[in-house]
Order: sequence, then C-alpha cells, then structure tokens
Amino acid sequence: MAILVTGAAGFIGSHFVERLLAERPDARIVALDDFNAYYDPALKRQNAAGIAGSERVTLVEGSFGDARLVEDVMTRHEVRAIVHLGGYAGVRASVSMPLAYAEANVQGTLVLLEAARLHPVERFVLASSSTVYGAGCDVPFREDAPLGVPLSPYGASKRAAEIFAEYYTRMQGVPAVWLRPFSVYGPRMRPDLAMHVFASAITAGRPIPLFGDGSYQRDFTHVSDVCAGLLSAMTAEGVVGQAINLGHHKPVAVAELVRLLEDALGRQANIDRKPAFAGDMPVTCADLSKAERLLGYRPRVTISEGVRDFVAWFRGQSTG
Ligand SMILES: NC(=O)c1ccc[n+]([C@@H]2O[C@H](COP(=O)([O-])OP(=O)(O)OC[C@H]3O[C@@H](n4cnc5c(N)ncnc54)[C@H](O)[C@@H]3O)[C@@H](O)[C@H]2O)c1
Repeated sequence: MAILVTGAAGFIGSHFVERLLAERPDARIVALDDFNAYYDPALKRQNAAGIAGSERVTLVEGSFGDARLVEDVMTRHEVRAIVHLGGYAGVRASVSMPLAYAEANVQGTLVLLEAARLHPVERFVLASSSTVYGAGCDVPFREDAPLGVPLSPYGASKRAAEIFAEYYTRMQGVPAVWLRPFSVYGPRMRPDLAMHVFASAITAGRPIPLFGDGSYQRDFTHVSDVCAGLLSAMTAEGVVGQAINLGHHKPVAVAELVRLLEDALGRQANIDRKPAFAGDMPVTCADLSKAERLLGYRPRVTISEGVRDFVAWFRGQSTG
C-alpha cells in the first residue's frame, strides 16, 4: 500500500517521512510538495533530497490543490492512507495573505477529502493547528471545550479544514482524524519560526525582535513527539472523527526560550522590543488527556533537551 504524505519536503513532513521509512517497512510513500516560495525552496529541496534516496519514496512535485494531479496520484500509486501536512503555516504571514491560506489550507484540503471519498482510504490524518484555539478559550486547551474565535486567518483556515474533515467523516465515510500540533520545533524547522529567527540573530550578533514583553508562553513541542502522534493516528482505533492535541503541556515564556538559546549558543541576545502582535494568544497549553487515551501519546523531549538538539542542527547548518 502507498501512503500519500503532503508537504513532505517541509519541516514536519520530512521528519514524518523519515519516521515512516523507519517504522513502516511495508509502506511505499508518495511524497507530494509544490516547493513554494513561502520560505527558501532550496531548504525544501535539501529536505526532499534526504528522503528521496529511499527506493520506497516517490517524490511528486505539484500541488494538492490540483484535483487532476491528486486523482492521478491516488490511482497510479494505490494510495491507502493520506497524511496531510502540506499548507501555509505562519500565523503572522496569514494576516497579509489570507487568500493564499484559504486556497491552500481550505480548498486544497477539500480536494484531498474529495479524492479520499472517490478512492477510499483506511485513514486520513489532517494536520490542523493549536491556532484553532482563540479568544475566549480556557487554558489548558481541551479539544471538546469551546474553541473561542481564531485570532488569525491561519487559525480560521485550519478550523475550516477541520469542519470539512468532520463533514466528510460523518456524511461521506472518509475516516479522518484532525490533529492539533502546538509550536513544533527541532532540526530543519522553518526559518520564520521564533526559535530559528532568534538563533540566527543571536549567532549573527543582530538584535532579536521580541514581540510584547516576553511573557507570552508557548507549549513548544519537539518534532519527534509530533511525529509519534501522527504515526499513531494512522492506525489507532477510536480516533476517526476526533480532534486531538499534540502538545507538550509545559508552556515556556518566550523570554525563557531566549535564555535557553543563549545558554546553548554560548552568546548573549540583544533584544529589540516590538509591540505585541494582536494575533498572538498570551498562553498556549495543550490538555493531553485525549491524546494519551486515544493515541498513547506522551511527549518525551524536554524543552532544554529539545533546544540543545535544535542548536546542534543549527550550528551544523551555519558552518556547513
Ligand atoms: N510548525 C508548527 O509549529 C506547526 C504547528 C501546528 C500545525 N502545523 C501544521 O503542520 C503542517 C506542516 O507545517 P511545517 O511547519 O512543517 O510547515 P512547512 O512550511 O515547513 O511545510 C509545509 C509544506 O507544504 C508545502 N505546500 C504548501 N502548499 C502546498 C500545496 N498546495 N501543494 C503541495 N505542497 C504544498 C510547502 O512547500 C511546504 O514544504 C502544516 O499543515 C502546518 O499548518 C505546524
């Protein structure tokens, strides 16, 4: 059987394909990515080169929003499961380009759900996001409590994708589950994410842009833990039709993250304070009881281990 992984050349996608190669020796993988320029496509090419060496991986360059291409992939490769990790993922960028987010994250997801209706799969795993939790939602965030209002077009696009997935599950028999990762980090992380931006600035001796007073807290979750949750969602029983958090349940203040990076990099940060961004939640924190119950999910990587792991990779990048 083949597993279609969208966004496979991206940060989480490339890790997830590696994980599949290691843990699903029976599986063929169709790795789909359009290598768009949201960030430097050369980084995505590097990620893709890392996975395309396996004869079990077929790399397809194109958009999951292209219904004809998706139809061709589904039939040609006999796709039996879809793990949909592709999309636009930046909170701030979504404010200035909401249409691109709607097109990729909503319409593109719909193309894949339609394909899964026409060519039944055993599981459709959708990467949603913690940004579906918005203003008015209680902390820690629980999947089945009121979600509040998403504070960005990104969060709104992910919520819309979830609702379409729910419709396809209830009414069209597509066995979908939608996971909500929280502030994912680790080697190969996107260059627009705070940890990466801070590490680059500290290393170059540039000021780091710190939005607000540094007290905002994020539930940073290592990419290996997120991949474990995604993998489990592909086969676990009782998850179809469910939203499930993939977080760490240990929020860290952004100022503390800066201190951890200073320690790991051995250099002081020079902070450039910027006004708080209205689309940022003051705290994100995942309630993990549902993930633990349904997926056996337990995050293993502490923030200090994870920052060291990220910095080891980051140093290799900057010197190599
Ligand atoms: N990184 C995080 O902290 C985080 C948190 C919550 C959810 N997520 C979700 O996880 C997924 C992966 O995020 P990431 O951080 O790895 O981002 P990423 O940008 O590194 O990866 C996304 C990939 O999708 C590809 N892509 C985008 N539109 C496409 C299209 N129409 N057709 C084919 N490929 C397309 C991009 O080229 C990119 O390689 C996204 O859906 C994101 O919303 C990420």
